[in-house]
Amino acid sequence: MSSIAIDRSAAHGNRDSDPVAHWRDAYVAVRAETERRAAPLSAEDQVVQSMPDASPTKWHRAHTAWFFEEFLLKAHAPGYRPFDARFAYLFNSYYVAAGPRHARPKRGLLTRPDMGEVAAYRAHVDAAVGALIDQANPAALARIASIVELGLNHEQQHQELILTDILHAFDQNPTLPAYDAAWQPPARASAAGFVEIPEGIRTIGHDGNGFCFDNEGPAHRVLAGPVRIARGLVTNREWLAFMDDGGYATPSLWLSDGWAVVEAEGWRAPGYWREIDGGWHALTLGGLRAIDPDAPVMHVSYYEADAFARWARKHLPSEAEWEIAARADELSDAFGVVWQWTRSAYASYPGFVAASGALGEYNGKFMINQMVLRGSSLATPEGHSRVSYRNFFYPPARWQFTGLRLAEYGC
Ligand SMILES: [Fe+2]
Repeated sequence: MSSIAIDRSAAHGNRDSDPVAHWRDAYVAVRAETERRAAPLSAEDQVVQSMPDASPTKWHRAHTAWFFEEFLLKAHAPGYRPFDARFAYLFNSYYVAAGPRHARPKRGLLTRPDMGEVAAYRAHVDAAVGALIDQANPAALARIASIVELGLNHEQQHQELILTDILHAFDQNPTLPAYDAAWQPPARASAAGFVEIPEGIRTIGHDGNGFCFDNEGPAHRVLAGPVRIARGLVTNREWLAFMDDGGYATPSLWLSDGWAVVEAEGWRAPGYWREIDGGWHALTLGGLRAIDPDAPVMHVSYYEADAFARWARKHLPSEAEWEIAARADELSDAFGVVWQWTRSAYASYPGFVAASGALGEYNGKFMINQMVLRGSSLATPEGHSRVSYRNFFYPPARWQFTGLRLAEYGC
């Protein structure tokens, strides 16, 4: 699936001429995609929580409805009646300003509300949001449009998590279920060579046209280069060479924290890999598949990406370097295959100020101890990718579709 940003205003051509139709159509389309992704999963599949970082499908479906209920309907729909007052506690994720919440590691214990009640909750919210949009005059629509848009982008983030979280759950099951037996990996370009970025001052960050999350701005100037960035992603063939060379058994290649995880977890290959009859296989969304040496490596942590780069006598690009190369349209597979680890710590851009109120908790409070990933992955919904997009995860995380490209310094 191509995930280059598609501006829905362009797709529908009516954001300005018929904003009610635009937002109604966008809302229906995004909400339907959540249900489409959940549809192959049984009730039992949708309840399980395989680790604290992963959430049940049913929880994702309910939480994304809660987001609209809490931030759109309660604030902007006069007379709105919550579907069930208890759901605010069950399905608030991390918004302290929105009130107390159920413990994150215990989301998998919520056998109730059941799937039918969650479906009814979503339908209740859909009806209320639809009526709110349909009945809004231009001034009211202008007030709520930014919340609708944030809620839709929030829901798209959870659509990606529905896939990554169920894959992690299926990996715990000795029968190794397939999410979709017909699933195929994305097409890839696999270009060779390097993009040369001479030393210079350039601008990165969102330019203000169209939607972005608050962490993508302000746009600002950076000094970058000279650096050469690989056009292609690191492949399984290269990763197998790292493994064969003792990459997972050589402490000098690893950051101290990373080596501690290698030892504690017994890592000797990327996530979901298994050696069967002398050959490497991995659990994918399509079930167990033999490793394709030419495919980009995925399910590696920051620690692994960093160790691989050191082994290869190269580096991970910074997020600014990645964005400069991507803006020049010089990277292959920048979007739609794997998120790419950068060596940049997730921090605020110069001049960043989080919004006031609960929605200010969306990104800003997580700007500590995490690393930035750029691009997008095979699980990223269409229309949700941008060159300025900043994803972020903790360094040991590898249940997302995460890979890397390399950089070398000096030209
Ligand atoms: Fe969320």
